[in-house]
Amino acid sequence: MKNAFPDSFVWGTASSSFQSEGGLTLGDRGPSIWDFVEERLPRGDLLINGPDFLNHLDEDIALLKKLGVRAFRMSLSWTRILPDGVGRVSSFGVSLYKMIFEKLLAANIEPWVTVFHWDYPLALENEGGWSNPNSPKWFASYCSVVGASFSPLIKHYIVMNEPQSFVELGYFTGEKAPFKKLDRASVLLMAHNVMVGAALGEKALRSSSASKIYVGIAETYSSPYPENEDDVDDNKAASLATEDFSGNLFCLPWWADPSYLGTYPKNWVEGFAIPFPYDGKECHGDYDFFGLNLYNGYPVKSSQNGFALGNKEGIARNSLGWSITPKAISFAAEYCAKRYKKPVYITENGLTLDDVNDHGIILDKARFSFIDDYLSELNKAILKGADVRGYFYWSFLDNLEWELGYKPRFGLVYTDYAHGAKRIAKESFAHYAKIIATNGASIDKE
Ligand code: BGC
Repeated sequence: MKNAFPDSFVWGTASSSFQSEGGLTLGDRGPSIWDFVEERLPRGDLLINGPDFLNHLDEDIALLKKLGVRAFRMSLSWTRILPDGVGRVSSFGVSLYKMIFEKLLAANIEPWVTVFHWDYPLALENEGGWSNPNSPKWFASYCSVVGASFSPLIKHYIVMNEPQSFVELGYFTGEKAPFKKLDRASVLLMAHNVMVGAALGEKALRSSSASKIYVGIAETYSSPYPENEDDVDDNKAASLATEDFSGNLFCLPWWADPSYLGTYPKNWVEGFAIPFPYDGKECHGDYDFFGLNLYNGYPVKSSQNGFALGNKEGIARNSLGWSITPKAISFAAEYCAKRYKKPVYITENGLTLDDVNDHGIILDKARFSFIDDYLSELNKAILKGADVRGYFYWSFLDNLEWELGYKPRFGLVYTDYAHGAKRIAKESFAHYAKIIATNGASIDKE
């Protein structure tokens, strides 16, 4: 199959502040809602400094350079910049990030900055967090500080990471911090505040930055894909399944439609059957690109009722039990590019394995084929005309997989926690480096 990756394709890798920085007590950083996760972690996993990124900056940037990435996606810790969430700005925090950005830029790597990747200020959570009607403004004022502080160093901002996850899993199912279980009506209002916050944040970033910037959201969902990709009806069925009301906010339409199109999906509003006063206009941001964190999906086929679940037999799973479904990435990328009419960047995709350090060698063959299979499907979407402009492998380093602790390892680089967070490039590191060096030509595309 033809190699379709354009020369300008942004090859990258990704990380987030709370999962990789360490240094929770450094400077005047304020506490976040994740600081208290320790009691929930699997036994034996202490909330240590994790990969301790802040103490390995030069080494890590040298590794990123060796990998050959054009871009490194990293997030800011809100409470390093505004220890109380609003008000007082920490010059220590601002200088810290400036220093990191300057080092990355000096290595010819563009920092793509996620403004908010879940580590919400505890001070604001205690005021009701995203349920508080002032929460969108709090977020926008944080974004103003960010834009003003990091302009002109930063060109690409992901204003928010996966609202689907931090809202639905943090406040409805209670799996993630702050581990709350609110009722559906309260969660819908909170989700609305989150999207209004993102839209105000987008404007604040733009008006406070002195230079031209590009802003998007990193959305996520588990994407349906056609059981038979050449069958027109199965393709239609996959679109129908994407739009279908599921009652679960770990989905695409409830978030991406208001944020990118300015309307709540009617069938979902009806489906929830909860009085809902908003039409979605306030959620509409002037976004430049569509960020998609895509890990997996499920096959569907056409049926008399529109769509039915396809055959899931034989689908492999990662070490967390998530299915491995490369075909989901081509369908989702194409679907999102068409529906939201923005260039798509895959802002996250990756595989967790129980990697074993065998005398300094981490032979992660399954990760090779994961990357090849997903990228070869992405290549297909580009060949079909989808405007896909970049791919960020999650993650650069093995890091804290939130409440699941340190056992799940997604990294291209192994973190040896028992030995000062020593870095060991896994075999997949060289594999991905080759893909980048050949602009995708080395991928096994059948
Ligand atoms: C999140 C990351 C997380 C990864 C793997 C995404 O949902 O943005 O923070 O580590 O998936 O679970």
